[in-house]
Amino acid sequence: MILQNWTTEHSQNFRKKTLVANHNLNETGLFTDDALAMLLDKHPRSHLDVCTLAGHEIYQGKFRTGDARDVDGKTLIEAARKGVIWMNVREGMNLHPEYKDVLDQMYGELSEHSGTKAFNPRGGILITCPTAQTPYHCDPTDTMLWHIHGHKRFYLYPDTPRFLPDENYERVLYSMTEDYLPYDISMEKDATIYDLTGNDLISWPLNMPHRVENMGFCVSITAEFSTPESSLKNAVMYCNAVLRQKLGMNPQWRSASTPEKLAKAFAGRVMRKLNVLSSFKDKDYVTFKVDRTAPNYIADVKPFIRNF
Ligand SMILES: [Fe+2]
Repeated sequence: MILQNWTTEHSQNFRKKTLVANHNLNETGLFTDDALAMLLDKHPRSHLDVCTLAGHEIYQGKFRTGDARDVDGKTLIEAARKGVIWMNVREGMNLHPEYKDVLDQMYGELSEHSGTKAFNPRGGILITCPTAQTPYHCDPTDTMLWHIHGHKRFYLYPDTPRFLPDENYERVLYSMTEDYLPYDISMEKDATIYDLTGNDLISWPLNMPHRVENMGFCVSITAEFSTPESSLKNAVMYCNAVLRQKLGMNPQWRSASTPEKLAKAFAGRVMRKLNVLSSFKDKDYVTFKVDRTAPNYIADVKPFIRNF
């Protein structure tokens, strides 16, 4: 069993309330430095995001995308442990059979316990340096964090118009890189803080805004899956985004009736297929290369649009 300390209360509250439980993913041996270095060696670079938020005179306070195409796994782990980079091994849990077996077991157990039908999760492996932070954001699908090593501080905020106005959520759906939401310090008094120290999992209701601080080198899995609920909401919100951006209207999710939602979901799915809001997508610029001889493993490069 991968799930530990999972009770009937967890099963009842799953996806409805925030819950914390334990797991024993450490015992698989797949998340040690050596195992992760081997994984990185074979993982396609098209599915590896390497980032930094390190101070820089030009990119101050901005997330920077890095190039690690010719960098081996051992160096990348070293760069996260000693440097200032973090990595998302996107679909790392799906693309490699030994990790996929574990992912299937994780979600097979969850599905059995919660009595819901099988999930189809996408699981990324986050390998983060001690200074890495994930700013205030929300995820457009059901997401869980399976924390494996290190100390991570997780801040969760209410899903209300003050914390998540509709227009901000719509932007998450049509912009490729603007994943982060406007934030101000006064929100902190409504935050709930969870200190995750390894072998902890946390699950929260769909779309609740959150942010994360790493207090040391951390390894976690972030896994997301679509449900009929998220798929309906996202189609409606896409339709609302078009009405707002193209027609200057001010539609609202929370006050819409069920027939309105169903009609908009149909329209939203068609418009998304037609990529009506494609002009609002941002380009992802690569501005550094991971280099073990450079300070903090970061060597600046002339910015280019990510092509890998
Ligand atoms: Fe998230």
